Amino acid sequence: MARLFDPWTVRGVTSKNRICVSPMCQYATPDGVAGDWHMVHLGSRAVGGAGIVMVEASAVSPEGRITPMDLGLWNDVQGEALAPIVRFMKEQGSVPAIQIAHAGRKASTAPPFDGGNGVRIEDGGWVTLGPSPVPFGGLPPPRALDESDMERIRTQFREAALRARSSGFRILEIHMAHGYLLHTFLSPLSNRREDGYGGTLENRIRFPLEVAITVRKVWPEDLPLWVRISSTDWVEGGWDPDQSVVLAKALAQEGVDVIDCSSGGLVPHASIPAAPGYQTAMASKIRQEVGIPVVAVGMITDPGQAEHILVTEQADAVSLAREMLRDPYWPLHAARRLNQDVSWPVRYERAKKGVVF
Ligand SMILES: Cc1cc2nc3c(=O)[nH]c(=O)nc-3n(C[C@H](O)[C@H](O)[C@H](O)COP(=O)(O)O)c2cc1C
Repeated sequence: MARLFDPWTVRGVTSKNRICVSPMCQYATPDGVAGDWHMVHLGSRAVGGAGIVMVEASAVSPEGRITPMDLGLWNDVQGEALAPIVRFMKEQGSVPAIQIAHAGRKASTAPPFDGGNGVRIEDGGWVTLGPSPVPFGGLPPPRALDESDMERIRTQFREAALRARSSGFRILEIHMAHGYLLHTFLSPLSNRREDGYGGTLENRIRFPLEVAITVRKVWPEDLPLWVRISSTDWVEGGWDPDQSVVLAKALAQEGVDVIDCSSGGLVPHASIPAAPGYQTAMASKIRQEVGIPVVAVGMITDPGQAEHILVTEQADAVSLAREMLRDPYWPLHAARRLNQDVSWPVRYERAKKGVVF
């Protein structure tokens, strides 16, 4: 059997294959409540055969949204709206997963398809938050968090986790990547604090770790907790793979089960060598040096390439984003390419066999 279609068990959750739909913001809701678009978008990828379908970055608070159109998990209406989508994904045999996030200093912007620029307060934007008042590119500097803000944000992550559980999700991912709030604590380029949350590596990882500990306490023992990190800022003097190993070890000790290894996003001027599988070496390093399961992501498009990443033990699973937008049935097509007999949705079986009437 191809490794790509080998089931994968972490804690009490088994995915039928090692293909994950990477979280992708849809900017499709004005109040953070999932609707028809989310059902069709996520449902199609479940019908398409992905073992794990991860819902986009879902804000733990209104100011934690990247844009005013982000999905949210800061109130019960938002949690309840996700429940039927979760149920549908399960019925299709996919493991429903969700990423919870706080956008930090990259919040209060317009969706990319509307230009992606900062939204001013008078136009419905808000004051952003960060470890220090260091801006991202041309966006306004964030307000530096004090201890009471941090307590509030830990609570917001905990409550979002509880809502994810009530909605029926089986995998929860904390977003510590792409220049959003928790990543800005990690990187010395955005964290200039002089208290116990800044300076040394031990101090910089403290708040993200506290969030993970808080979430792990309420996320059920039998369900996996993932963390997505940017393994490097791709900038001299920034966050890097060696620091990622230290973070991953600390996270593993606190009950985090899987590291989802992305990169970049902290500063706009980084030069990123984007090419097929360009982030996989960092996933492999973390897997080897920490001994924790990892997910590889980034320009994985070809079934043979995905199989190679798994067979060479660089990662335990692969996550695909843009290729899944091009082809929601990628897993079914990959199975055909790798000569694997996987089940199709019963209503589509006549197409699988290639019978023409
Ligand atoms: C439309 C779109 C939305 C995205 N939204 C998120 C997100 O919500 N959370 C996240 O961690 N990454 C997000 N990403 C990054 C992807 O999950 C993925 O890491 C990245 O696109 C690289 O994978 P790919 O080459 O397969 O597209 C997004 C990417 C795209 C294209």
